[in-house]
Amino acid sequence: MRISWLRAGRSECGALYNRATRVGVSSWTVLLGDLRGAAPLSAEMCAGLRGLRAGPEPGEPYGRRALHRDETGEVMLAGWGADAECAPHDHAGGVGVVRVLDGAFTETEWVWRDGLLARGATRRWRAGESIPVVAGGIHSMVAHGAGTTLHVYRPAISGMRVFDPARRQTLSVRDDCGAWVPRDEALVLARVDWETARKRAR
Ligand SMILES: [Fe+2]
Repeated sequence: MRISWLRAGRSECGALYNRATRVGVSSWTVLLGDLRGAAPLSAEMCAGLRGLRAGPEPGEPYGRRALHRDETGEVMLAGWGADAECAPHDHAGGVGVVRVLDGAFTETEWVWRDGLLARGATRRWRAGESIPVVAGGIHSMVAHGAGTTLHVYRPAISGMRVFDPARRQTLSVRDDCGAWVPRDEALVLARVDWETARKRAR
């Protein structure tokens, strides 16, 4: 499957899309317009997406493959390394859904406690399930073995914040950076110490 096919219009993908229920995929734009698009992806589509999977660079939890980005939102495919864990992060105010194409993951919610970000509730997800992304939430994910996830965000993420609990810092990262603390400082747009932010807020 080629990306151009994935971007094909409704007529080309009609068999995958039910107009009555709006379930299925005719284009990324339709998927972004209906975040149930979480909606059952066909086995053919899932297999094609797995074929587009890019593995992670050394020291990073997953490889990012951008499939679509426009004024409505973005679609990104993540190829996770074995047992890799991403950093806690937000989604720049956007909403979305993460569809697990293969593998199993544990998602951790992070909450602020006394000026520090702490691990909160966890939930296990497996292939075929869809993880909701809510505005304002902070989470991280760890893969159990390798895995592949399809990320659909509305609007496109711009100004994502990655949180570094070890250094107690919040990093705003460039839009082509994933949910990890980048080794390349050029990907960091801003860096705020939690303690400094706390003092300023007093
Ligand atoms: Fe996320």
